[in-house]
Amino acid sequence: MNNQRSINAALVSPVTDERCGRRTISGGSSCLPRRGGVCLKPQHYDEILKQSPDVGWFEVHAENYLGAGGPPLRYLELIRRDYPLSVHGVGMSIGSADGLDARHLQRVAALVDRFEPESFSEHLAWSTHDSEFFSDLLPVPYNKAVEDLVCEHIDLVQTTLKRQMLLENPSNYLSLENSTMSETAFLNNIVRRTGCGLLLDVNNVYVSAINCDYSAEEYINELPLDCVGEIHLAGHATDNSDPDELLLIDAHDREVADQVWSLFEYTLSHSGPRPSLIEWDASIPSLTTLLAEMHKADSAANIVAGDANVIAR
Ligand SMILES: [Fe+2]
Repeated sequence: MNNQRSINAALVSPVTDERCGRRTISGGSSCLPRRGGVCLKPQHYDEILKQSPDVGWFEVHAENYLGAGGPPLRYLELIRRDYPLSVHGVGMSIGSADGLDARHLQRVAALVDRFEPESFSEHLAWSTHDSEFFSDLLPVPYNKAVEDLVCEHIDLVQTTLKRQMLLENPSNYLSLENSTMSETAFLNNIVRRTGCGLLLDVNNVYVSAINCDYSAEEYINELPLDCVGEIHLAGHATDNSDPDELLLIDAHDREVADQVWSLFEYTLSHSGPRPSLIEWDASIPSLTTLLAEMHKADSAANIVAGDANVIAR
């Protein structure tokens, strides 16, 4: 076990920071390198093994690797030997009113034990109810009852996985009437109470800000950026079916939009460089295209870091 993995294994017991009342878990929000990474797709397995491209880290969806064996796990075993790894869950249903699926959680825990990723993350969403599974990540209202429920579930995940998790902000298409607080207030409360970190999806922030008519920059300003352990970047689609209302769709099927790159740079100027992933889950491009997007993320981070050095001098 290398040093980074030893740190992860030690992430067990949250303690409360007396000064800010925030629960913290030693070891920081994630042990991924603060540079660009890309999603690991089966279409690229062989190319990666043959060419060993210079990639900061890879991210996989946990649910694609929960089987007992087979090619995906064999490839992941080989690639993981050479690269830092993030395991990103899409099916935990953290916001479910029915509680977490114990069997699913145990299968994810087994995957995390096996591959010892530098980071584990999940969505602030729900996708199961009464034994029904939905293919979408559905929104939760932001109120005290849901806050208590989500904190309880995150506590269970972190205790079971014996590590801190990162919680990802959703992409929103509407605002729920029974919310009593903003999304950023909700996320601040969750981080303070559970000691989890944040996975800040900058594309989700942009999509939500356009769809729900608020300022993306103000949203970023209201987050506890020191708790952001990873950033997601992705492409979005535009739905023009209603001429009176622009709707953006979190599609993950194209290059990152210019406006999202700008918001990424704005975020980094406040947070400093963070592990930053190019998410691309449909119409999978060549590895070359993915890496070009990753290099754009690295360039933005280098410019921000350079600016900070100039200011510090
Ligand atoms: Fe994301």
